[in-house]
Amino acid sequence: MTMLAPPPLSLYVHLPWCVRKCPYCDFNSHPQRGALPFAAYVEALLADLDHDLPLVWGRTVQTVFFGGGTPSLFPPEAIDAFLQQASGRLRFAPGCEITLEANPGTAEHGRFEGYRAAGVNRLSIGIQSFDDGCLQRLGRIHDSAEAVAAVRLARAAGFDNFNLDLMYALPQQTLAMAERDIECALALEPTHLSHYQLTLEPGTAFAARPPAGIPDHDAGWDMQEHCQALLAQAGYAQYEVSAYARPGRQCAHNLNYWRFGDYLGIGAGAHGKLTLGSEQAILRRWKLRHPTAYLAAAGSDAAIGGDEYLSPARRPFDYMLNALRLNAGFALAEFEARTGLPRSAIAAELAQARARGWLAEDGERIVPTELGRRFTNDVIGLFLTDTA
Ligand SMILES: C[S@@+](CC[C@H](N)C(=O)[O-])C[C@H]1O[C@@H](n2cnc3c(N)ncnc32)[C@H](O)[C@@H]1O
Ligand code: SF4
Repeated sequence: MTMLAPPPLSLYVHLPWCVRKCPYCDFNSHPQRGALPFAAYVEALLADLDHDLPLVWGRTVQTVFFGGGTPSLFPPEAIDAFLQQASGRLRFAPGCEITLEANPGTAEHGRFEGYRAAGVNRLSIGIQSFDDGCLQRLGRIHDSAEAVAAVRLARAAGFDNFNLDLMYALPQQTLAMAERDIECALALEPTHLSHYQLTLEPGTAFAARPPAGIPDHDAGWDMQEHCQALLAQAGYAQYEVSAYARPGRQCAHNLNYWRFGDYLGIGAGAHGKLTLGSEQAILRRWKLRHPTAYLAAAGSDAAIGGDEYLSPARRPFDYMLNALRLNAGFALAEFEARTGLPRSAIAAELAQARARGWLAEDGERIVPTELGRRFTNDVIGLFLTDTA
């Protein structure tokens, strides 16, 4: 029999406000109206954490990620108060990676120093583009000069480990413009770069009124390939569909997601995924999305937006949705430990994917081929069964 073994544990903390809503964004982010209730929200996060602690009793947190929204709207004192109190309730691994997402439009003097002093050791800065026209069309609150200044401030504050988020296939963007964005990013010497293709997410302003001049699928693929080559030349290896890193600087937090690790999700709309060894179950839990409703209910069952136990039939698809995004693929033994299923459960789908040239077997590992990487969604779709 194959047993579920609890994998590494991460902590995700959602901070749900932004200065204003970007027209392409479908994250759980809400425009700031007036003063934000920072202290009350930190109290709510801690109550939420206390409520979920029995689910992770005795386990060590390997990584922490403050995501948003715009976490850098929170003053360093609020982040410090949260981390101090959370580390009294949960064991943090030595050298625990602690990332905070920052928007260049909120980078004021002294703020990054404060995050660093609070224990944050990695920043993820949302640049999107270094072209002022592109930034305007994306409705960003900052221009290119502010983006560069924010990165310099972060470095001056002692952050030697930081990610830059860029998007490509932007309205009216040419291949040369996409390449220029990569060159500008490289000049700032980040340790990590996330390169996302702009998607029109349902329910966003862009989906309702698509802006003119969005590059088509082939043009988008061209940009991806050229930018990937520029990054490779500069020593940034692609390790996931949209993620590039210098050696040893991959994002440990995201890697844990992609390897189907566990994570506790606290904050408005946060999602968690936890392996319950004693019950041989995998629980997905998410919290109320709206900050006001979340603030009122945090710490009680009423803050839980939903609980779902992942059926064995559904596990292969959920596993592949993550693992097949990685260039290194996955080890069959890890699939077994993290889904509680024998490898025979996916033998037919693997054979089909190999026959189509999408996946290759490298000893114990299943690795996407170049063709498979181009059709990631189709490969993952093979694992979606009627009963799942
Ligand atoms: C939660 S945001 C993080 C940081 C911060 N809120 C900001 O925007 O500066 C995470 C990243 O997702 C990417 N993103 C958001 N919406 C997207 C979309 N529709 N298509 C592609 N990437 C998107 C952006 O690169 C963004 O920086
Ligand atoms: S700042 Fe970031 S999270 Fe906020 S709306 Fe824009 S992309 Fe979304």
